[in-house]
Amino acid sequence: MKKKILVLFGTRPEAIKLAPVISELKKSKKFKSIICSTGQHREMLKQVLDIFKIKIDIDLDLMLPNQNLFDISVNTLEKLKNYYLEIKPDVVVVQGDTTTAFIASLAAFYLKIKVAHVEAGLRSYNKMSPFPEEVNRRFISIIADYHFVPTLPSMNNLITEGFSKQQIWVTGNTVIDSLLSVKTLLTKKSIKEKILNSFKTHFPIEILSKKTVLITMHRREKFGAEFIKILEVIRRIATKYLDYYFIYPVHLNPNVQKPVTKILGKLKNVILLPPLDYLTFVFLMSKCSFIISDSGGVQEECYVFRKPILVTRDVTERNEAIKAGYAFLVGSDEKKIYSKFKMVDKKISQNFDFFTKPNPFGDGRAAKKIVKILENI
Ligand code: UD1
Ligand code: UDP
Repeated sequence: MKKKILVLFGTRPEAIKLAPVISELKKSKKFKSIICSTGQHREMLKQVLDIFKIKIDIDLDLMLPNQNLFDISVNTLEKLKNYYLEIKPDVVVVQGDTTTAFIASLAAFYLKIKVAHVEAGLRSYNKMSPFPEEVNRRFISIIADYHFVPTLPSMNNLITEGFSKQQIWVTGNTVIDSLLSVKTLLTKKSIKEKILNSFKTHFPIEILSKKTVLITMHRREKFGAEFIKILEVIRRIATKYLDYYFIYPVHLNPNVQKPVTKILGKLKNVILLPPLDYLTFVFLMSKCSFIISDSGGVQEECYVFRKPILVTRDVTERNEAIKAGYAFLVGSDEKKIYSKFKMVDKKISQNFDFFTKPNPFGDGRAAKKIVKILENI
């Protein structure tokens, strides 16, 4: 009899990174896969489901405007209890470090259901940064039965913490699988034209042949004064570097929307956009000069397009990117942001190669490996 495997996600990055796993599971003869969204995100999740043609079996539709961690945690735990009891999955697959992933693991544990964790073992070893993700992922590790780690350093983190090597598999990061599949779509002329047309209401597309910086930022631990500080630095840079355009698809969180619109909204060379569907965002990644972001996924993806990144965080769990020499940790420190901006700008103008080391995040076959391992367990 086929085993029931429940794939569970709630936010944009989880869906992007689980899309290739879902696609492999659908091909598997050993599993009946069921897809559940908690709906921690709404519009931003729908964009991903559409691009990857993911059909969800159940949407718990939990998102509330400006939700706090209690809202998401309590509502998810309560809803999942009944859903798990009804479905009775053999295994639940979660991804990363969101509150959806943590609470879905906790609910599975309470009902003694096995948990498979995709993108396990990432650590900053600072429980306040990223907040609450560092603690979410450590809790998930304690609960999970199968740990799919993207890199060797992530495996070493788990082994150092006392997890059994027999339950850990190094697979690469599934984000590379997703990105490569979308990159192939971008070779189609009709798709490219559609994307370019979608920009026309926002900015003249000639901008894309100029120097551009792509920006994304949304981390909870920076909300308030620190986030404003970073935005002020970006404002000063944009005012000085008038030969650059700054393209910023703004996360829908009101704690992000409000200060970004207030501080950057009126600058001529700053283009604020709504969150972009994955295909369009990836297209912009391929076109930009470099990136400023605090996103986890973007630190992994930018290698594929050979775009350096300034990471506006104090610590990163993606040290592989720093070591590979294409990511620079700048936090919210004005001097660091400014000096690294200047350095990257200069090196790009000299055609410096930031990408001499192999991609630390894998070869695009992570999902295949994960599903094969699950089939053999
Ligand atoms: C969440 C995750 C974070 C992940 C990020 C990816 C937690 C605690 N945080 O943070 O780890 O990196 O997603 O983007 O799990 N909103 C909308 N529409 C959407 C999505 C969000 O309006 O489609 C607004 C809502 O007002 C919502 C708010 O953004 O209440 C915050 O969403 P939430 O999921 O709580 O936090 P994120 O900052 O998105
Ligand atoms: N992304 C997207 N549209 C955007 C901005 C980002 O599709 O407008 C993608 C990006 O390529 C990456 C993922 O969303 O795969 C990252 O999501 P986010 O930054 O929200 O979360 P994190 O990775 O920090 O958890």
